[in-house]
Amino acid sequence: MSEFAFPGISGTYPVWVRNNTVAEVVNGLLEHGYEGAFVVTDSNVQSSVLDDGVTCPVFVCEPGESSKSHERLFELERWLAQQRANRQSVVVAIGGGVVGDLAGFAAAVYMRGVAWVNCATSLIAMVDSSLGGKTGIDLPEGKNLVGSFHDPASVVINPRWLSTLSDRDLKSGLAEVIKYTVLLDAKRFEGLESWISGAMSRDEDTLEEIIAFSIKSKASIVGGDPLDRRGQRAMLNLGHTVGHAIEAALGYQGMLHGEAVAVGMVLEAQIGEAIGFTQPGTSDRIREAVRAAGLPAELPREIQIADLERAMEADKKNVVGGVSLALVPSIGEFGVVQNVPADILHKVVTEQ
Ligand SMILES: NC(=O)c1ccc[n+]([C@@H]2O[C@H](COP(=O)([O-])OP(=O)(O)OC[C@H]3O[C@@H](n4cnc5c(N)ncnc54)[C@H](O)[C@@H]3O)[C@@H](O)[C@H]2O)c1
Ligand SMILES: [Zn+2]
Repeated sequence: MSEFAFPGISGTYPVWVRNNTVAEVVNGLLEHGYEGAFVVTDSNVQSSVLDDGVTCPVFVCEPGESSKSHERLFELERWLAQQRANRQSVVVAIGGGVVGDLAGFAAAVYMRGVAWVNCATSLIAMVDSSLGGKTGIDLPEGKNLVGSFHDPASVVINPRWLSTLSDRDLKSGLAEVIKYTVLLDAKRFEGLESWISGAMSRDEDTLEEIIAFSIKSKASIVGGDPLDRRGQRAMLNLGHTVGHAIEAALGYQGMLHGEAVAVGMVLEAQIGEAIGFTQPGTSDRIREAVRAAGLPAELPREIQIADLERAMEADKKNVVGGVSLALVPSIGEFGVVQNVPADILHKVVTEQ
């Protein structure tokens, strides 16, 4: 089992990859000086991951993005107050990205900030959302518009928790793994097939390898830019400008995040090729990798192109008016292109 020191806002925090039960994690925290532990989870994770040994108070929300709302946050804050959680307490998120973002944000603002530990149970959470200190909720106007940087005291990842995750959610997480290889590691990109088949059969060694690679990849990007100010973290946006726009144009229904990112990586590579920034053939290679993981590579039929283009223009990361994209010159390299011409964007999304 392994431990990684992840770069945070002030110093590093540990990310443990090991076969702990939730009760072992919670009891370990209480033995280490926290006066009370307050678990936050969703109903799927409660029935599949929480064990009988968990005796501390548990807040259970509905599974899914709708729990990243002010309403749910308000309920959670009031619950913490009613349970008499205090500055010596620890909030323990046990779940995927939704639970981590919600519980982490509650921990950031409750009593001006209390400690929290993130137990990541989905592949997206293990390879991406639990790492990097971003917490928050959605507004009707857009995703993740309210939030805070609040590093966890630690992150705990037990690859065995993935045994109950649906195949579809597992594949969705693989999209983020493919993203790291496209950005950072051409050799791993070539070897993706064995990772994908090992992950789909829930082979523990493969899952551990994938998780370790992802933690190191994200750490290498976040380390130079923990507060997302210098532009380095923009790398992580590969596939996401188009991906987020797809999710928004579909009203956050019908496509999972990783599925939208998979399509986004293919289309963004096509845009890169069309403006002469990306080596020709790159989008075909990404398309093949995405398909091998059972992820979609094309826009869904029901999407309205006008909605998609509007969402891309509204992307909160555009800095100079036009659409800016994180693009790869070739597999394993990275760049940012600002002000991508609207006619090229239009041509690619209509002719893909
Ligand atoms: N904070 C960040 O840096 C960051 C980064 C990427 C994504 N995110 C956020 O993460 C969210 C997406 O994450 P997600 O895909 O994990 O969503 P999620 O939390 O909704 O989990 C996906 C589904 O899997 C279920 N689940 C999770 N673990 C399980 C397990 N072990 N067994 C059975 N079922 C399980 C959940 O109940 C849910 O139905 C989005 O809200 C996104 O904005 C945040
Ligand atoms: Zn993502």
